[in-house]
Amino acid sequence: MSERDRFRLDGKTALITGAGSGLGRQFAMTLATAGATVVLAARRAEKLEETRSLVAKAGGEALCVSLDVTDGASVQQCFTELDDAGQSIDILVNNAGISRTGFLAELSEADWDAVVDTNLKGVFLVAQATARRMLERGRGGSIINIASILGFRVSKTLGSYVAAKSGVVNLTKTMALEWARFGIRVNAIAPGYFETEINTGFLSSPAGQTMLQQVPLRRSGVLSELDGPLLLLASEAGSYMTGSTITVDGGHLCSSL
Ligand SMILES: NC(=O)c1ccc[n+]([C@@H]2O[C@H](COP(=O)([O-])OP(=O)(O)OC[C@H]3O[C@@H](n4cnc5c(N)ncnc54)[C@H](OP(=O)(O)O)[C@@H]3O)[C@@H](O)[C@H]2O)c1
Repeated sequence: MSERDRFRLDGKTALITGAGSGLGRQFAMTLATAGATVVLAARRAEKLEETRSLVAKAGGEALCVSLDVTDGASVQQCFTELDDAGQSIDILVNNAGISRTGFLAELSEADWDAVVDTNLKGVFLVAQATARRMLERGRGGSIINIASILGFRVSKTLGSYVAAKSGVVNLTKTMALEWARFGIRVNAIAPGYFETEINTGFLSSPAGQTMLQQVPLRRSGVLSELDGPLLLLASEAGSYMTGSTITVDGGHLCSSL
């Protein structure tokens, strides 16, 4: 296999949660372009359909499935549908996520639960359902959890998100440890700031512009700048990587204190 072929994903099936917008849509396009069949999962059917049509226009193959990652019954239903359709997952991108801002003294239990259930419990539920099938099939696989630089550093008003994303970083390592002997690699990507629905308006606001001045590369990321790290972790090119978190943040985490 040539070095270039090691990044190809022909014959593989990849499940991407939160694939109807932002990073998830980009991940779906990237994996499909590398040859994978992509399964697009989230709650808003119309957004998934938009992604499916973009993948199809680019010559890729995609199908949509309804999924609420916070709800165990919805996760089971989604996997039952995939089992019934004969789809087995080789690559999982656990990307669904939300954020809610609020100082901890004022944060409601509902907002805490929404953020932690989506960003942390959701990663567990979907990875568990995927890994169970990978274990049964015995062909290994690659799981990629989307963390954040807020899994390593903290920010006022984002306490629930920080707690969830730092949980994702160590959950990734624990999954890697438990499943390595079965050929299942588990890694994470920790993005810095990329303009999407999750931070609409923030990056162009005065506070967002000030924040970007602290990024060594002095700008937010462009979604395609996540393609390389994603393909590395998803493909044979990353065959000796498990338990790692790759930071893609323009140097934000190593900014001067
Ligand atoms: N953008 C950034 O700067 C940045 C930085 C670091 C990390 N991240 C992480 O990157 C991931 C993607 O975020 P994004 O920036 O692309 O934001 P986004 O455009 O808002 O995408 C998040 C996606 O998650 C889906 N989602 C939310 N709750 C869900 C649920 N309960 N079940 C299933 N799907 C759900 C949403 O689809 P539905 O509403 O249709 O379900 C949405 O398409 C998140 O984990 C986020 O924390 C983003």
